[in-house]
Amino acid sequence: MDEIHVIGGNCLKGSITVQGSKNTVLPIMAASLLQREICVLRGCPRILDVCYMEEILHILGVVTWWKGHDLYLDCSKVCGREIASEYTGRMRCSVILLGALLGRNQRGVIGYPGGCVIGKRPIDLHLYALKSLGAIISEKNGKIQADCKKLKGQEINFPDRSVGATEQALLAAVLAEGETVLRNCAREPEITWLCRFLQKMGARIFHEKEGCIRVQGVTSLYGTEMLIPADRIVTGTYLCAAAASRGSVTVENAPEGEMEAFLEVYRKMGGQYEWKSGKLIANGAGIQFSVPFLETEAYPGFPTDLQSPLLAVLTTVPGISRIRENIFENRFKICSELTKMGAHIEVRGSEVKICGSRLKGCRLRAEELRGGAALVIAALAADGESVIEGVPFIRRGYEDICRDLRYLQAEIYMEDILSV
Ligand code: EPZ
Repeated sequence: MDEIHVIGGNCLKGSITVQGSKNTVLPIMAASLLQREICVLRGCPRILDVCYMEEILHILGVVTWWKGHDLYLDCSKVCGREIASEYTGRMRCSVILLGALLGRNQRGVIGYPGGCVIGKRPIDLHLYALKSLGAIISEKNGKIQADCKKLKGQEINFPDRSVGATEQALLAAVLAEGETVLRNCAREPEITWLCRFLQKMGARIFHEKEGCIRVQGVTSLYGTEMLIPADRIVTGTYLCAAAASRGSVTVENAPEGEMEAFLEVYRKMGGQYEWKSGKLIANGAGIQFSVPFLETEAYPGFPTDLQSPLLAVLTTVPGISRIRENIFENRFKICSELTKMGAHIEVRGSEVKICGSRLKGCRLRAEELRGGAALVIAALAADGESVIEGVPFIRRGYEDICRDLRYLQAEIYMEDILSV
């Protein structure tokens, strides 16, 4: 079992190139099922969630291979319609395969999705979208079965915004009969990238006004290729890592235009940044101001996925900071671990109050993806050594956090304790 060792105190500096976006590539891998040729995803991150999705696609009959970071998906011989819960239960994104399977062959049977333990994570909006398009849904024996003769375009007004449910509806609508209008869609960049990929496959998708997407069903889609954009959450994570050590970082390929809410907070804390010919140059030396109040919101608000990494930074900033988590019910799990390091944190329902202090290194345990990254960030600022368990959680979304942070002069390494 791996452990991450961090010796805190180094002031991070240097430049890195960030991996492709996890939350962009996963729905695009599912979308490849909608065509019967070959798709190529360039700059694909080699993370655990991509491996999990690849395994699921293999079960359905997709043949995949890699050339460096380029993932090839041959969907010409896909015949599977069923995915067991041992596979779907490893990630949240597996649920949108229903929409892709319905679009490809009018039937899908999947186990319930899994994913990080950050909240209840219901799928009612996903099923609402599929039923609206004419799917017959049954849930029994721990599985979800969806059938249809042919999906029919429909007006779908989402009662609440959901990234996954918007993706679900798009995957089902592109090959449906007639026109679908989706209202109150999620506005995350991942939705825009998925639409671009589907359009490159031949789908007819039109962005009406904010949060409204119109889809005109077509009869078939074709193989294509796309460069996966840089991961905005990994970029923000590494800016937090530099900020915790009051260091600086240049991200060579940062996704400009996708990080405004985060960068606004970074600047309010005393950080400085500029975009220069596609690079994000950030300097955290001046980070000294607490954040009196911040709340996570759907895009373009402050992203919930950067709430834990920012919280870790705020435990080192003098003064009182407050964060309200509006998206997920259980996203303060790392507070008990940070308290072990000497952080002063009070969790009150969906809000957390942080009083900055010095941290000391100790043994820590990650229980979910972004919380695990936040523990690494806190360890970088702490006095002495920290050991972080639960590395597979971090590997779900970070290709090699130790490698990347070593590029920034962090003293961090992975140890496989079984091999000791
Ligand atoms: C996606 O999750 C991301 N995951 C999450 O990233 C991200 O935090 C989240 O969007 C919000 O931006 C992937 O893209 C694989 P939602 P998703 O549906 O689609 C409720 C990470 O760390 N809801 O937008 O599951 C839900 O409970 C992960 O990379 C329903 O009530 O998020 C939540 O409160 C974590 N019913 C809110 O909506 C539903 O049917 C937003 O969830 C679906 C969602």
